[in-house]
Amino acid sequence: MATLETEDQTSFIDDLKDTLRRSKTIDGYDYNAKKRYYEPAPEQNHGAAFSQVVESRRSVRKFTDKPIPKAVLDACIDLALIAPSSCNLQPWEFHVVQSPDKKAKLVEACMSQNAATTAQELIVVVARTNNWKKIAKLNIEQWPQPKIPRHWKEFYSKGVAFTYWQGPFYAVGHVKKAFTNLAGLFRPMPRGPFTKSDMRVWAIKSTALAAENLMLAFRAYGFDSCPMEGMDEQRVKKLLRLPGDAEVVMVVGAGERDTDGVYFPRVKFERENFVKYV
Ligand SMILES: Cc1cc2nc3c(=O)[nH]c(=O)nc-3n(C[C@H](O)[C@H](O)[C@H](O)COP(=O)(O)O)c2cc1C
Repeated sequence: MATLETEDQTSFIDDLKDTLRRSKTIDGYDYNAKKRYYEPAPEQNHGAAFSQVVESRRSVRKFTDKPIPKAVLDACIDLALIAPSSCNLQPWEFHVVQSPDKKAKLVEACMSQNAATTAQELIVVVARTNNWKKIAKLNIEQWPQPKIPRHWKEFYSKGVAFTYWQGPFYAVGHVKKAFTNLAGLFRPMPRGPFTKSDMRVWAIKSTALAAENLMLAFRAYGFDSCPMEGMDEQRVKKLLRLPGDAEVVMVVGAGERDTDGVYFPRVKFERENFVKYV
């Protein structure tokens, strides 16, 4: 059962100092607090059903005319939105393009691929590198219990800026990088994000996980999808009037799989090529 944090929590700065001293955890959580939140693992195991969903997901390039019911579309997007994200900063956006005019332009920007032309829904999956301030604020304002743990509040009011604010022209990021490289000679240190490209990778990592949730959710609800990066990102950004920090990660086409919607058998290789036990 959920219980509140005790008042004797240490502050974020104390936690950070302690972390640097011990070089162990970076989450500042007091694992020894007597009263804290517990969420036991569900007793049921869904391995077989999950395997069926994952194994039957294929990239589908031809969809039927059957629309995806709004309730299903929303349920799939909601499942995407609960994907894990770095520091819970949820850097993603899902632009569901439904206006016929915009959809036609988006299909064109997707190089008129069949997966886009025949899709019932086209969802532009976007990563934002500059949205972290807004989401950090929401992490404080929308804490789900009556009392917010001090370390959570301090992290989202101070720690997040310390981590993700890179300053004008990324100057602060470069200073942090130099300091980290030096300190990193003596202790484990998180090596970023510090640069523009680090921030892109940071935002795209979490967003890609959410995109995978979305595609698996469609499959679980009896629909299919195709991720597309074969598109003109500049045109997509212009069409959706996306801000400068937005990265179009992929466009997901979705709908009901047509009988000839999967073009090839699955082509996968020996696990030894990819899995190393060290
Ligand atoms: C990031 C990403 C971009 C992709 N872009 C396209 C694309 O533009 N067009 C397309 O037909 N398939 C695209 N695919 C689908 C891959 O070709 C497909 O996942 C791969 O061949 C494996 O097939 P499967 O998904 O059916 O298992 C993309 C997949 C990923 C992950």
